[in-house]
Amino acid sequence: MSSRREFLNQCIAGLTLTILPSGAIAEQGVRYYQLAAEPTPHFFDKNPLATDLWLYNKANPGPLIQATKGEILDVEFFNNLDQPTTIHWHGIRNINSMDGVPDLTQSSVEPGGKFHYRFPLNDAGTFWYHSHNKAWEQVARGLYGPLVVYDYDTNENDIGSDIVILADDWLLNSDEQIDANSFGNLGHWSHGGRLGNALSINGKFKPAIRVSSNGPVRLRFLNAANARILNFELSGGIMMKVICVDGSPCESFDTNRITLGPAQRVDVLIEDASQLVELLEVSSSKALNAAIFEPISSKLTSVKNSLSTEPYYSWPDTKNAKKIDVHMQGGAMGNLSKATFEGEERGLRDLALKEAKLWAFNGNIGGYGLSLAEIEIGEVVVIKAWNDTAWPHAMHLHGHHFWVASSEFGEKKRALLRDTYLMQPGEKAELVFIANNPGAWLFHCHMLEHHAAGMGGVIYIS
Ligand code: C2O
Ligand code: CU
Repeated sequence: MSSRREFLNQCIAGLTLTILPSGAIAEQGVRYYQLAAEPTPHFFDKNPLATDLWLYNKANPGPLIQATKGEILDVEFFNNLDQPTTIHWHGIRNINSMDGVPDLTQSSVEPGGKFHYRFPLNDAGTFWYHSHNKAWEQVARGLYGPLVVYDYDTNENDIGSDIVILADDWLLNSDEQIDANSFGNLGHWSHGGRLGNALSINGKFKPAIRVSSNGPVRLRFLNAANARILNFELSGGIMMKVICVDGSPCESFDTNRITLGPAQRVDVLIEDASQLVELLEVSSSKALNAAIFEPISSKLTSVKNSLSTEPYYSWPDTKNAKKIDVHMQGGAMGNLSKATFEGEERGLRDLALKEAKLWAFNGNIGGYGLSLAEIEIGEVVVIKAWNDTAWPHAMHLHGHHFWVASSEFGEKKRALLRDTYLMQPGEKAELVFIANNPGAWLFHCHMLEHHAAGMGGVIYIS
């Protein structure tokens, strides 16, 4: 009897697995995907040399997950790596148990194991998913992909008018392989993190991006690099209208340059896409040609009609807010000489050499075990972050978006609702949010080497 039932269940499971294409809707309102993490050779260009990466579904970036706001995302995940892993859904104001932080919100998925992620998509926007175990290695080897939630029905998708531009910065050796010898390099960990020597856009070096030349185009920029801050411009100085940051709509403004710290997203609108020729990365004195635009003619699109302008929520009153002081310290050329690690105060040099720990919050080497605060559900919270180091940091809060008076886009401060804020050396910033999502939520630097080396802690909300 029970074996027959098992057999039937297996058949049903088997059917579900084989019949549904990715992104299919089987049940009303549920979007199904399967992701498998595995070692895969990848071609960045026409070069016959393949680079050995670790990828989701053998693709870099991993498959574009597309859904409509209000749907449930259902992902069956398989770990075909030879080390444990998890998936974090960056920017999703998620259920805590689905947040994908190993040892904090779930156990790691062991080699050969699987995990069922299932959660509602309550916000539209540009998000991404990435490994959250040893991310400094697993993300560097390619374990990430884009996730776009639309606020309208996408069944009839506009070709070439709504485009993800996902950038990554790879550190490759002369055989075009991932430079594995430098994983864990203390120079990287104590300075600006692992910086690469090859820039990919959507998994290719200098690809052609097809854009619809008749009508406005939406570009969704996303920085998946471990540590590199990227600056993009369009050739000819074409202006971009910023409409969303980190998923959430913002008060729109025009700019000719987009700055993206690791994990950040910026969505822009280009009014006249027929002018698009080249995408340039302009961080160094000589602009790098990152991609070329290839005009195609397609039907007139609706990308503009569907734009929402309302942020996820408005800046809350902070009169009775709970304050969390986060004094960010450490790193090379910093002023931290000793810090507490696992209950013991030790010199920074000793911590660096023996534990690969280099960064601290309030004198404590951080990690999944460091509690920054316990907050009552519903409270308004102000994280008073002080970057008292010689390096920029991309500070990310899980499970929430926060308001910040941002100085990321020039002199003028802008009120932005973000999940990741790029802080300059010496900067003090107030990150304001409503703690309305219960659980254990990480707050950490998204320069992945900094996080691994101590720049992170947990905010408990109940
Ligand atoms: Cu995108 Cu804790 O990370
Ligand atoms: Cu950092």
